[in-house]
Amino acid sequence: MSAPNNSYDPVEVNALHPDEVARMRQEALDAIARASSLEELKEVRIAHAGDRSPLALANREIGALPPAARADAGRRVGGARREISEALKARQAQLEDERDARVLVEEAVDVTLPYDRIPHGSRHPLTTIGERMADIFVGMGFEIAEGPEVEAEWYNFDALNFLPDHPARTMQDTFFVAGPNGGESGMVLRTHTSPVQVRAMLDRELPVYVVVPGRTFRTDELDATHSPVFHQLEGLVVDEGITLAHLRGAIQVFVEQMFGEGLRTRMRPSYFPFTEPSAEVDMECFVCRGASVGNPDAPCRTCSSEGWIEIGGCGVVNPRVLVAAGVDTERYSGWAFGLGIERTLMFARGVKDMHDMVEGDVRFTAAFGMEM
Ligand code: PHE
Repeated sequence: MSAPNNSYDPVEVNALHPDEVARMRQEALDAIARASSLEELKEVRIAHAGDRSPLALANREIGALPPAARADAGRRVGGARREISEALKARQAQLEDERDARVLVEEAVDVTLPYDRIPHGSRHPLTTIGERMADIFVGMGFEIAEGPEVEAEWYNFDALNFLPDHPARTMQDTFFVAGPNGGESGMVLRTHTSPVQVRAMLDRELPVYVVVPGRTFRTDELDATHSPVFHQLEGLVVDEGITLAHLRGAIQVFVEQMFGEGLRTRMRPSYFPFTEPSAEVDMECFVCRGASVGNPDAPCRTCSSEGWIEIGGCGVVNPRVLVAAGVDTERYSGWAFGLGIERTLMFARGVKDMHDMVEGDVRFTAAFGMEM
């Protein structure tokens, strides 16, 4: 039979001896202070405050003490554990602050550093202005048509009523494509977009309302106002009851939408083999509206103080062309026009030199930005 162990002295349980608790407490606090990162602190927490830490194990011994000794030991161990837990919390906050400060420095982005990525390009102003011009006609119900840049002479000349001895067919203007063994191929680099008139009439159901933006070629030297490669916007209408009045109206709408309301247009007699009658189209200068004419004090650079700007050629489609394209001339008539896209860019945007358009310097293109 055993008597209650009243004389049990807690100091005899090694883990609960005040010196031992103080040692475990100090060891934990030292480890916490030494932890130099959040990862290290995590290890320290497990080692000194976890379920299997010395003080947690000591805590379990308390139940084995006589009741009289438990309170004292409990206070001693509990106090140490509380201190350790608070020290952990404080160190955790301190290390988190340090980490945040470090991240701010290490991950800071210097937005003033030189930009080393490939810059986004811009679409060439010839492309965007050509699209704008065509879009105005699309808005009037026209469709976009296309044709090949290497074209059969028949489409480029014969079908358009250029007789075999027409000066435009000679080597002066036309890039002829060499055939096998240097002979003739019957092919040229198209000298204008007008061959697409014939293609459109042959390919499509009548009536035809098309605009044709495209690249064209002539044997001109590159200078401030000429380029061997340039662009035109062709227009063609073939329908019943079509007259020159519709052409005037369409040109008028185009000029007003592109350059400003109320601008007048005029036609001057001209000659093209594929139109009869033919005309050059002028528009009133959208900058001075004629105010510079005969007024040397206020000269206009856009129209050279002439008050009018030539924008292209046009005319009623020659019945010979309609016949070549198989169109019934008793029933149908039509008109066509051709506008120069480089020319339009020059006077519309003040581009003084053709070289700027063809040299491919991105600074020129970028200055126009993205015009969609
Ligand atoms: N094709 C002509 C040129 O290149 C322009 C034009 C087109 C004239 C359509 C009349 C009708 O000069």
